[in-house]
Order: sequence, then structure tokens, then C-alpha cells
Amino acid sequence: MADRLKVGVLGATGLVGQRFIQLLHDHPWFQLEVISASAEKAGMKYSEATRWIWSTPLPSSVADMRLCKLSPEKFKGLDIVFSALPSQIAGGFEEKLAKMGLTVVSNASPMRLEDDIPLVNPEINPEHLKLLEVQRRTRGWKGVIVKNPNCTTAILTLSLKPLLDEFGLKRVRVATMQALSGAGYRGVYSMDIMDNIIPFIKNEEDKVRDETRKILGSLKGERVKWLDIGVSATCCRVPVLEGHLEAVFVELEEKPSDLSEVIKVLETFEGLPQKLKLPTAPDKPIIVRSEVDRPQPRLDRMAYRGMAVTVGRIRWDEATENGLKYLVLGSNTIRGAAGAAVLIAELMKAKGII
Ligand SMILES: NC(=O)c1ccc[n+]([C@@H]2O[C@H](COP(=O)([O-])OP(=O)(O)OC[C@H]3O[C@@H](n4cnc5c(N)ncnc54)[C@H](OP(=O)(O)O)[C@@H]3O)[C@@H](O)[C@H]2O)c1
Repeated sequence: MADRLKVGVLGATGLVGQRFIQLLHDHPWFQLEVISASAEKAGMKYSEATRWIWSTPLPSSVADMRLCKLSPEKFKGLDIVFSALPSQIAGGFEEKLAKMGLTVVSNASPMRLEDDIPLVNPEINPEHLKLLEVQRRTRGWKGVIVKNPNCTTAILTLSLKPLLDEFGLKRVRVATMQALSGAGYRGVYSMDIMDNIIPFIKNEEDKVRDETRKILGSLKGERVKWLDIGVSATCCRVPVLEGHLEAVFVELEEKPSDLSEVIKVLETFEGLPQKLKLPTAPDKPIIVRSEVDRPQPRLDRMAYRGMAVTVGRIRWDEATENGLKYLVLGSNTIRGAAGAAVLIAELMKAKGII
């Protein structure tokens, strides 16, 4: 235990922050040392300052930890800082920490599309971490910033990667049914969402399009060449607490011989986190269900502790040449946020980057 890396969490009281607490309080490689929230909560005990929303109890080892405010000196001496800050304030503070020499793994959207910022979904594009060499050289920071994808994109790209590798992708269309927790603790008023669906999520459709193309892109020299395909998304907020469900329609380069070939390609997919047996890696990143009414948020969001996505209803899409359609579901706060970030940090440690 003595050689565990020292870590901190920014935005520890929020919905993603609470997931970080769950994942880090007893992590075998990381020791949680510093937690922070907004200035009003600085000095308070975590258990007093947090409206804990998850069904497992707030970990007792964190309950009495004191929250600190966003001052760079509070984070001195840490190895890694996980960020679950609102995007409006994340960018500037994360940069300050990177300048000080810290490794920042961030959920917040600023900088995700910049050329020297790795945007990593660990099973898909771990090689994009090589951009950190460019980042260090061009920015002159002692530390680094790595981003994990937007929640919808993290879940979608995990299902697309095996299809891309095996059959090639020409076009992707997706309609999403996104959970309330995706909008943060104060995200959506109950009077707006009860008995309702809101067919708009600000900036989400552009994020899904651009981040999907960057993550599935290939490293060419010192940059990522984005995958040259059309990606089109329609994003809706639905009255579900947790777990984004996405209806995906893909046009493949090559038609698979039959649907059992598609199922096999998805079920047998694994990435570097599985090969390296990283602590937070799911045994299988993609689960395929054969029941006609799966995946469902309540039943499938916690597959492999929330780190696997579940695919179901795989069918041909007769309206499109080489068309395939299916649904994919994943935990937005774990696979789509804190879990992906912790897995990135494990990968960086295993590869000797931290
Ligand atoms: N929710 C998801 O599924 C999801 C998925 C992927 C990415 N993300 C991204 O992850 C980030 C966090 O999302 P969330 O859903 O956890 O949001 P949230 O529930 O609203 O939590 C926000 C956190 O940031 C803190 N905070 C707010 N203003 C602050 C300030 N001025 N200074 C310091 N701390 C401040 C809050 O502290 P207080 O408690 O003191 O207000 C809280 O801990 C966002 O950038 C979001 O876009 C979220």
C-alpha cells in the first residue's frame, strides 16, 4: 500500500465526483488524499457537504475528509488529479495544475478536440496517449492533461470500434435516450422531465459527432487523423436516473455474412485494459444480450460494475446498404465519466507514463 500514487478529485461532491469516491476510496494503486468542491463547502466534512445519491453507502474512509477550495497549492505533491468540474471553470484550473507538474485526467469538455490533447476511451485508442509527448514539448508544462470522452460518445464508440475494425464504417446515425444524472446534480427540473422527454441537450450532438471521429481516428505522426465518416446524432433527455440508451444505425463498408458474425465480433472484443488486467477494467467491455427487450437502463447499467456496455436488438437495417442497427446502453457516470477516467490513469501507470 505504501507505494500507491497520491490522487485528488475536483468536484468531488457532484454526481461524477461521487462516482470517483466510490472507485478511489479503496483503489489498489491510488490513495485518495485531496477532495474539493465549491468555495462555500471548503472546510466541511465530505459527508456533511454531499447529497449522496447512489444506493451503495458513502464510503466511511471518505466521510470525515475535509473539502478544500480550488487553490493550486492544495494539490501540490499529488501524482494525479481527477477532474469532475463544470466545464465553465475546468479549463483554466486544470491548466494551472498541469503547469505545476500534475497529471490531470478530466471529464470536462474544454480542450477535448485540441490536437495535442489525448481524448481517450481506454479500450479503443490507448495509443493516442503518445500525444502527451507533443503536449509537453509545445506547451512547456511539467505535467499533462488527458481527457475522457463525453458520456454518450464513450458508450457509442465502445460499440463501434469492433465493427470498424472488422467490417469498416461508412456512416453512423444515433438517437439517444439520456439519463438525468448526465446533466449533473442540479441538471434538470423535475417539473420539466416528469412525464416527459426533452428532445434537446445543448452542444451534445456536436460533441458526439466530433469526439467519435477523433477517438476512432488514427495516430499519424504527431496528430490524430480523425476518422473520415459521417456521424449524425439526435440527443434526448428521458426520465431515467442513470444509464444512457442509444439507438444506433450504421452503414458498414462490408456486409457481414450473418448476424452471428456481428455478435461474435462484439462479444470477443477486448482492449489493452483487459490484456493488462487493469483493476477497473471490465472482464468484457461489451456484453451482447439476445432478449428482444434488452438492454434496459435498470437491468443493464451496472454490468461489470458499470464499466461494460450492453448491446442488444442487433438487426439488419434494410433501408441502408450494408446497414446494421442495434441499441447500446452504458452507465453515463461510470463508463461514460469517472470509471473511464480511472481506467485511463491505470493505463498510464501500467505503461509507465505516470
Ligand atoms: N454526469 C455525467 O454523466 C457526466 C458524464 C461525462 C462528463 N461529465 C462532466 O463531468 C463534470 C462534472 O459533472 P457532474 O454531473 O458531476 O456535475 P455536478 O453534479 O453539477 O457536480 C459539479 C461539481 O463541481 C463543483 N463545483 C461547482 N462549481 C464550482 C466552483 N466554482 N469551484 C469549485 N467546484 C465547483 C460542485 O461542488 P458543490 O457541490 O460545492 O456545488 C460539484 O462537486 C462536468 O464537466 C460534466 O460535463 C458528466
